[in-house]
Amino acid sequence: MSLSNIDPTTTEAWKKLAAHFEQTDEIHLKELFASNKNRAKEFSLKWEDFFVDFSKNRITGETLQLLLQLADETDLKTNIKKYFNGDAINRTEDRAVLHTALRAEESDNVFVDGENIMPEVYRVKERMKAFSNAVISRDRKGYTGKAFTDVVNIGIGGSDLGPAMVTEALRFYKNHLNVHFVSNVDGDHVHGILRELNPETTLFVIVSKTFTTQETLSNAVTAKNWFLNNATQKDIAKHFAAVSTNTKKIAEFGIADDNVFPMWDWVGGRFSLWSAVGLSIALAVGFENFEALLSGARKMDKHFKTAEFDKNIPVILALLSVWHNNFYGAETEAIIPYSQYLSRFSAYLQQGIMESNGKSIDRNGNRVDYQTGTIIWGEPGTNSQHAFFQLIHQGTKLIPADFIGFKQSLYGDVDHHNKLMANFFAQTEALMNGKTTEDVRSELKEKNLSVDKMKELVPYKVFEGNKTTNTILIDKLTPESLGSLIALYEHKIFVQGAIWNIYSYDQWGVELGKQLAGTILSDLQNHDIADHDPSTMQLVQHFKN
Ligand code: F6P
Repeated sequence: MSLSNIDPTTTEAWKKLAAHFEQTDEIHLKELFASNKNRAKEFSLKWEDFFVDFSKNRITGETLQLLLQLADETDLKTNIKKYFNGDAINRTEDRAVLHTALRAEESDNVFVDGENIMPEVYRVKERMKAFSNAVISRDRKGYTGKAFTDVVNIGIGGSDLGPAMVTEALRFYKNHLNVHFVSNVDGDHVHGILRELNPETTLFVIVSKTFTTQETLSNAVTAKNWFLNNATQKDIAKHFAAVSTNTKKIAEFGIADDNVFPMWDWVGGRFSLWSAVGLSIALAVGFENFEALLSGARKMDKHFKTAEFDKNIPVILALLSVWHNNFYGAETEAIIPYSQYLSRFSAYLQQGIMESNGKSIDRNGNRVDYQTGTIIWGEPGTNSQHAFFQLIHQGTKLIPADFIGFKQSLYGDVDHHNKLMANFFAQTEALMNGKTTEDVRSELKEKNLSVDKMKELVPYKVFEGNKTTNTILIDKLTPESLGSLIALYEHKIFVQGAIWNIYSYDQWGVELGKQLAGTILSDLQNHDIADHDPSTMQLVQHFKN
């Protein structure tokens, strides 16, 4: 069954939230803290090794109650059940959405079209384990008998971002294999990586759910040709593996059956790192760590499925995001991890969140008249402080930001870690409190400036504060905590899409550009140019000349 079909703006809760916004939007966060001594505690959640403080959101107790009412009125409980049960909630593609089954227990039963998919999920996992163990242990060798030193993952979108993000995030746990990621159809990407590699010791993993994606197929062919400059056709069986739903196309490409790892229609590309799409992760950090990643996600799944909504981290974060997006008009959200190893986390979530909830047609087939998907961006702190934080602090836009940090550092350098985390806490404090005119004046007084100079400078040095942030403080960056963190955001995506009454699991919006690129490619390769608008025509002609 599809998700329920309720326009959120017609609910009682939405109307009340609109009125409540009018009454509260001028209240400064500092006042909210001053008027409630327990605010920090009341608006925080502790779960496993996660501590989530959302008290620096522009909300009151009443806001939260109304948001929870919105969740109830839009049938969130029933919708969550449908999601985990394998209902075809991806209506426009008529598919279930079951990345959660990829990390479920072997003893669980999850049915798609009347068939329990868990035995197949675990069969593939066993094969991933055997394959990755053999490569890591050097038992599996290349065509000249040498062990592998390098792995190249060729894929794009969900077939790249998840494995690339996790491999980087778990760099601390990596083994001797160097794992590279080729995604862009820009030849400089693939050639730049290949020129550093030795074909005798390089393993290619070609990842494409459809095995029709132009970028991936072009890069795979280039890699194969590069390999065949030195090796023979039969050596491909030792050096190429593939992950896809499209076994026919893989066979045409020439990859040996033993090296083919299936995936399934009920896994969306952007949620697929838990499947064999994560083979490069297992190769980089070992299968045990890959399993720990899955187990962290499984714990978050359980929390999401069972915790009451007022204690449910993905639900609360999703509701707060709806509040700021739909009532404050905050169009973007920053995600700032205070870990260099999470440098790809925002890029990964850009696909997860924006490809899922960047929709404007509701589940009735009508155009929505409210805002949906938020724009996601971010870079690790502290680097981002020295880049774009100025705008968050003193710009004209309200940008809710998630700050993600860890209590312990990986290498145990306490001095560095204290400095990192001092910045982490200082930023959310500064964003909330700001700096008043009085504070600026007294600071300037100490500098013995002239009265005129002081007057001139004061407005520039004032910070209004009142900026929303969530703080997600986790004990340590481990495969398990990373799995929980990713799953948290996956469920946040689900909740927001469910409330906005849109279909989060298709991505028709990326098709048009692909189609047009096909036509233009033939314009570039042939003499004649097809009919285009005058601007495109002019550009294509200029390029060809
Ligand atoms: O173009 C978007 C998209 O379809 C993503 O959703 C997907 O992750 C990516 O392309 C790659 O697709 P595939 O894994 O089929 O090559």
